[in-house]
Amino acid sequence: MPKVLVTGANGMLGQDLCPILEDEGYEVIETDIQNLDITNPGIVNRVLNQEKPDIVIHCAAYTNVDKAEEDIDTARLINAKGTENIAKVCSEIDAVLVYISTDYVFNGGVNVKRTEPYMPFDETDPLNNYGLTKWEGEEAVRKHCKKYFITRTSWLYGIHGKNFVETMISLADKPELKVVDDQIGCPTWTVELSNGIAKLLKGSNYGTYHVCGSGKTSWYGFAKEIFNLAGLNVNLKPCTTDEFPRPAKRPYYSVMDNNKICRDWKIALKDYINLRDLG
Ligand SMILES: NC(=O)c1ccc[n+]([C@@H]2O[C@H](COP(=O)([O-])OP(=O)(O)OC[C@H]3O[C@@H](n4cnc5c(N)ncnc54)[C@H](OP(=O)(O)O)[C@@H]3O)[C@@H](O)[C@H]2O)c1
Repeated sequence: MPKVLVTGANGMLGQDLCPILEDEGYEVIETDIQNLDITNPGIVNRVLNQEKPDIVIHCAAYTNVDKAEEDIDTARLINAKGTENIAKVCSEIDAVLVYISTDYVFNGGVNVKRTEPYMPFDETDPLNNYGLTKWEGEEAVRKHCKKYFITRTSWLYGIHGKNFVETMISLADKPELKVVDDQIGCPTWTVELSNGIAKLLKGSNYGTYHVCGSGKTSWYGFAKEIFNLAGLNVNLKPCTTDEFPRPAKRPYYSVMDNNKICRDWKIALKDYINLRDLG
């Protein structure tokens, strides 16, 4: 039975990913900052050499996009240096490395308006510190490992973390709710991403992949579908990015071509809403 070690296993993705891997028949070693601080090369070396996993799925990250604008050092330490620590040891112990990256490695048509989905080989150009440090993590993986999957995902939501779907539902009783309509992307359920990773692991076509929901929408369109599926009647209004300035710039268009690895975002969202209602 192949052994998989997961970093950041207590995070939103990690908590959905680990049981799915177990169902797939993997032996799963769950780690997080308490027992595997990825910024400490000595600890990374010791734990990975003790466990000798066949596969490492690296979910741990600095994920506060706005805070990264004022604290690039911490974001870089975790997303770039931490990933390099993992990548070096994976290469030494001949483990396959799966690195979770982001649509924020692209600029989203900031200079020239974009309408075509990004392909995995398209030019990267991060707009914010989070995207930059995640891209540096990608580069570390490409530099140190031969057996790797870089899986870029986007607009992630899942039952185990703070996310857009839950935020919208918590705001449903407001007299009016304005949501940005000029940023387009691909909403992705953590379960879809986990299944996508499991599919990739069945083969050895290493490289960079986009593992996000199929189709596209704006944050406004996403919110509208959430309320529709949840049966909530909300006074929802579209607005522009300029009306909601944030510390970190966001791409206007970060739709990624996923080569059909995940289902349509609306179908996945329906499953999520049904499951959360049951829970
Ligand atoms: N959320 C999104 O919309 C999105 C979009 C695209 C890509 N991604 C990527 O998807 C992956 C999973 O995201 P997520 O939303 O599940 O993130 P998350 O909920 O923030 O989980 C990240 C986990 O990493 C842990 N961690 C932080 N620093 C660490 C360290 N030094 N050593 C070990 N563990 C550490 C965190 O612990 P603490 O909570 O204690 O800090 C947390 O358990 C990340 O790589 C992220 O960059 C996310």
